[in-house]
Amino acid sequence: MWAELKSHERMAEPARLCVTNQKGGVGKTTVAINLAGALNDRGRDVLFVDLDPQGNATEGLGLLEAYDAEPPTLLDALVDPEGVPREEIVYDHEEMDVVASNVDMNAAASTLAAEDDAELRLDRLLTSLESDAGADVDVDYDFVVVDCPPHLGAVTDNGLVAAQNLVIPALAEPTSKRSLELLFDYVGALEMDHDVEIEPQALVANRIENTNAADEMLEWFEDALPETPLYRVRKRVAFQRAFSAGSSIFAVEEENDMREVFASMAETLDERLTSTRLEVSA
Ligand SMILES: Nc1ncnc2c1ncn2[C@@H]1O[C@H](COP(=O)(O)OP(=O)(O)OP(=O)(O)O)[C@@H](O)[C@H]1O
Ligand SMILES: [Mg+2]
Repeated sequence: MWAELKSHERMAEPARLCVTNQKGGVGKTTVAINLAGALNDRGRDVLFVDLDPQGNATEGLGLLEAYDAEPPTLLDALVDPEGVPREEIVYDHEEMDVVASNVDMNAAASTLAAEDDAELRLDRLLTSLESDAGADVDVDYDFVVVDCPPHLGAVTDNGLVAAQNLVIPALAEPTSKRSLELLFDYVGALEMDHDVEIEPQALVANRIENTNAADEMLEWFEDALPETPLYRVRKRVAFQRAFSAGSSIFAVEEENDMREVFASMAETLDERLTSTRLEVSA
């Protein structure tokens, strides 16, 4: 538990998680915000990145003014990862630091297409934001959580290559079979192109209702990815209420039985991704 994590056991570098599925509306943003909230609730320091030009996570974290802010914005920082001061793109939130999306991100795919090493820009930006250089704030992050847009291409590539750990939300319905197959084919090609290993760390069956079809899909998920922990997130209006309040379900008064599910996801990710990174400093 957090209380037992001694200060000298800080992690060497943050574990990065990319919340992704090119299918729209499956719960990427909901899972990203609430996983970040769960990690914070465990005492972890989280940097959240909203890579989606729609800016839903930016809105759901109460930062709509950042979405309409004047340049320099996240897009400028992706073009010039070491050149934009962190205070221009990193916003305070009670649970986490947030790299906000911006309306400019609608041009990200075409802008990045003209750049060399376009898929590596977020990796460079995170390396810069994770270091203390030039920051007068505590930037000793334990986790980086990236929310992706609902399509494959230059922007999502940046999330996948930078994080190399996937959290995959999917609805418990038959259309998810094809979307997961397409995602894994795509990720496989990206691994070859960039000589990286991208690992699914969590599969999140989302918006589950009590139907036979949902039960069958949960079994299919277990068979399809036997090595990857499967989490069951039920349909709850409390997620929408927390979104409207600008936070995760962990920061609102209302009790929610899905806190346990996200807490368990956070605990397992902590164990899987950070145990090898703990190091004793002098
Ligand atoms: N478990 C859930 N229970 C109830 N509502 C949910 C749940 N998960 C997501 N929703 C709702 O479904 C809608 C879509 O969710 P969300 O925005 O998280 O999906 P997304 O995959 O990020 O969408 P996009 O592909 O557009 O980025 C939102 O209105 C959200 O509040
Ligand atoms: Mg989203």
